Amino acid sequence: MSGALHAPSALVTGGSRGIGRGIALCLAKRGWGVTIAARGVEALEARVRDLTSLGSSAIAVAGDVSDDLHVTDLIERHLDAFGGLDALVLAAGVGSAGPLAGYQARRLDRQIDVNFRGPFLLTAAALPSLRATAQRNDSGVARVIALSSLEGLHPESGLAAYGATKAALISLVNSINTEERGNGVMATAIAPGYVDTEMSDWISDVIPKASMLSVDDITRCVELILDLSPQALLPQIVLSRREAATYQA
Ligand SMILES: NC(=O)c1ccc[n+]([C@@H]2O[C@H](COP(=O)([O-])OP(=O)(O)OC[C@H]3O[C@@H](n4cnc5c(N)ncnc54)[C@H](OP(=O)(O)O)[C@@H]3O)[C@@H](O)[C@H]2O)c1
Repeated sequence: MSGALHAPSALVTGGSRGIGRGIALCLAKRGWGVTIAARGVEALEARVRDLTSLGSSAIAVAGDVSDDLHVTDLIERHLDAFGGLDALVLAAGVGSAGPLAGYQARRLDRQIDVNFRGPFLLTAAALPSLRATAQRNDSGVARVIALSSLEGLHPESGLAAYGATKAALISLVNSINTEERGNGVMATAIAPGYVDTEMSDWISDVIPKASMLSVDDITRCVELILDLSPQALLPQIVLSRREAATYQA
């Protein structure tokens, strides 16, 4: 399905559920064309139906963000459908909790691949399109929005690997701003505490879902970023839960 060339468009990884799904819906409601990506085909197809029912142009591209070929394919498919890229939303992510002592290499590697290596290579591949779109926009801006985590700033016990990947994502955002703001591409890392999605189910017996942040809290941050003036560079949004102790997710 093709989007109108003049309508803004976004590529949202992890767009099939949770935070990515919420952001994709929010963008569709704003009239954006949206490409959503994730591995599960059925969930993606259902989400495309949700997005198009809102009047949005939407496509889905299934694949693993840690697969280099998928990353290239994702950009090509998005550009074929929408002709530009106004925002890249990096929401796909995985977490695997366990004490640092004895932590297995394969669990570390998986989180690095999905949470950092994939987003890094996707950003690198998307930058020419983001720059080109920024140059032809009235605002002169295109944005990268990366779902980091409070764990990337203040890792809690048992989340050393996950926290390190999320810290790396914050570093990537800072590099994008350093290298690319002159080209009109600006990035923001959103670093929330626990959000009520499937990803946080594992800890819901300790941290009740009712005390977690909502997906809507995150989509409001995305709206804030998109509503900023072209002069505004917002490198980081840190979002804590009211009930959390200081510096805890
Ligand atoms: N929930 C929280 O408490 C919380 C807090 C802070 C930050 N975050 C971050 O926010 C982002 C979204 O989290 P969420 O809570 O929405 O998680 P979620 O509900 O588990 O959703 C994760 C999304 O990423 C996709 N995904 C997972 N592995 C993938 C892979 N290898 N390749 C491509 N897509 C993949 C999933 O689809 P498939 O499984 O079908 O691939 C799904 O669409 C993550 O980066 C997470 O680290 C979450």
